[in-house]
Amino acid sequence: MSLVITPWFGAVKIGDYIKRRGYEGAKKALSIKPEDVIEEVKKSNLRGRGGAGFPTGLKWSFVPRETDKPKYLCVNADEGEPGTFKDRYIIENAPHLIIEGAVIASWAVGIHRAYVYIRGEYLKFALILEKAIEEAYQRGFLGKNIFGKDFSLDIYIHRGAGAYVCGEETALIESLEGKRGNPRVRPPFPATNGLYDCPTVVNNVETIACLPYILREGGENFASLGVEKNGGTKLFAVSGHVKDPGVYELPMGSSLRELIYNYAGGVRGNRRLKAVIPGGSSSSILMADEIDVSLDYDSMIKAGTMLGSGAVIVLDETACMAEVLRVITRFYAHESCGQCTPCRQGTSWMAKIAERIAIGKGKKGDIDLLLDIAHSIMGKTICPLGDAAAMPVIAICDKFRSELEEQIRERRCPIERE
Ligand SMILES: Cc1cc2nc3c(=O)[nH]c(=O)nc-3n(C[C@H](O)[C@H](O)[C@H](O)COP(=O)(O)O)c2cc1C
Ligand code: SF4
Repeated sequence: MSLVITPWFGAVKIGDYIKRRGYEGAKKALSIKPEDVIEEVKKSNLRGRGGAGFPTGLKWSFVPRETDKPKYLCVNADEGEPGTFKDRYIIENAPHLIIEGAVIASWAVGIHRAYVYIRGEYLKFALILEKAIEEAYQRGFLGKNIFGKDFSLDIYIHRGAGAYVCGEETALIESLEGKRGNPRVRPPFPATNGLYDCPTVVNNVETIACLPYILREGGENFASLGVEKNGGTKLFAVSGHVKDPGVYELPMGSSLRELIYNYAGGVRGNRRLKAVIPGGSSSSILMADEIDVSLDYDSMIKAGTMLGSGAVIVLDETACMAEVLRVITRFYAHESCGQCTPCRQGTSWMAKIAERIAIGKGKKGDIDLLLDIAHSIMGKTICPLGDAAAMPVIAICDKFRSELEEQIRERRCPIERE
């Protein structure tokens, strides 16, 4: 099985990275026309690994080629989605993949300045990246006349202040501009009006880290690793009640069951599987009998959930769904930026109701009230955080209604009583 990212792990120093054919992809990119690099990425069927799964080559082609304005690349290393820990794993184990990927993306789109927006708490990872950037400048892979071409690129690290919403691309841009990280109304999109109102590409760390492979081995090769319209491999961060939590790289289209049982060692203590949150806390929960699903963007949507950031949270039979609901709703209420009334008010109401259910003070009708609020948020907000807060609530209330109702009736968790 060919893998794209993890074979580089351990090559932290530039010398080790070069020994493993590092920077060959960037060299190849700069030897062909920028338009041809975009074509190669389109052929690869690479889709954005930040959560939405938008085709990367297509996104780049929306950026105007001829413009008087400077263009920018923002590498999104905010990684705030609960359950997600794969981007910092890449930074820690193979930081040059991100620098090389940034060189490739910047050449393709005509960018001379890139920012890595990294969550403030991730200081350790920011320092690793800073060191790698320094090495890349020393070897001439950054700065002026890269590979002897009339092409320059500078990369800067910008540490955020640790707000989940700042991972949303327009909030990230606002934050980079030095403002409060409030999402912008779209359109216009960053491709034309992004950082400082200039054309901007925002890509996730993992998306950028796939580019060296694509350029070295070819777009078709990358596409063939995955399934239709979902090229390559994907990193999955598995946590929760499994024997071997961690980051696993699997081809797109692998099964969720295979990931949990063959890679993450199955359920801890050989307990019964209860449910799986398959793509970070925003994704709709799957019941134990729904895990025979292909891990690709389209199949997950067909299954009523999403691949999201690839953060798989496994829950065994001891998990209390009222508690899960309480933790998730509290998170979104805390992280809402407050610009839109449905999200600002709705997330707080949902958190209050979930809290009272969890502590045994739930009221008859609370489940319908939660569903009513969640449906009133969906699709009525400036950014997708509103939907992200509503979707897990809808799925948990629909799929675990009887357990939650029992908790309200009995004023205590049915799981603890067993
Ligand atoms: C509330 C919210 C938080 C997000 N957080 C992240 C994040 O931490 N990292 C990330 O890459 N994308 C995040 N995204 C998605 C970005 O808005 C954007 O789609 C992504 O960075 C684009 O890169 P990609 O095309 O390579 O996936 C978030 C979106 C929302 C709505
Ligand atoms: S949906 Fe929520 S987080 Fe997004 S802009 Fe509106 S209030 Fe802010």
